[in-house]
Amino acid sequence: MAEVVIVENPAAAGALVAAEIGRLIARRADAVLGLATGSTPLPVYSALRSQLEGVDVSHVRGFALDEYVGIDPSHPESYRSVITREVVEPLGLTPSLVHVPDGSLDGIEQAGAEYDAKIRAAGGVDLQLLGIGTDGHIGFNEPGSSFASRTRVKTLTEQTREDNARFFDSPDDVPMHCITQGLGTILEARHLVLLAYGEGKAQAIADAVEGPLSAILPGSAIQLHPHATVVVDEAAASKLTLADYYRYTFANKPAWQGI
Ligand code: PGA
Repeated sequence: MAEVVIVENPAAAGALVAAEIGRLIARRADAVLGLATGSTPLPVYSALRSQLEGVDVSHVRGFALDEYVGIDPSHPESYRSVITREVVEPLGLTPSLVHVPDGSLDGIEQAGAEYDAKIRAAGGVDLQLLGIGTDGHIGFNEPGSSFASRTRVKTLTEQTREDNARFFDSPDDVPMHCITQGLGTILEARHLVLLAYGEGKAQAIADAVEGPLSAILPGSAIQLHPHATVVVDEAAASKLTLADYYRYTFANKPAWQGI
């Protein structure tokens, strides 16, 4: 099962995961990071600024999980813009080595297969950051997504559009379609790190970690992965049946193991 680490707050989650990414880059200067957008990974990116100070990150590669379809890439809320603003620029990554699925309408039919091919050509993702939606999605794999799915176009649920309306001037401006790495694509990453904070994510986390494996809860796909780490604050952990066991396990884990 996934390793669950319960931390005090989002900043502690960010520090823990940033340290792991630091170890990865120290081992492998051209590490391939799987990048996520939304609010959840921001504490990781913020902790990485100090974690990677003085480290040569010019060879680090990155692949974002998803993008809106039909959005102008220069729109401030396109995931291309978000990744540039939150990750590439502050960390000083090489822009040409950081990829985001191409959501432009021209060529959208092939964009998914091309993106999967690019990930494969890079040798796969070393560490994939994941958030989880209140409806249990990871990436933009909405409920009902196949566990074998590849990068493709999906229709966002009304719930997800409402959740993301805060980033746009009006809820109607949230695009209806997205291009997202599939669950099958995500499961090929060598290490999955799923983060969540707050009570609003508690049910999705309990279902993903301890619930039945089910397409209705795409996050439950992490149970199929041999190395998945779930980092949550107390509120997001509040519906986990085995919370005390996870605390006990992590408190007694040898430091050399990392996460
Ligand atoms: P959030 O979204 O990080 O903005 O909460 C997570 C997700 O939808 O995957």
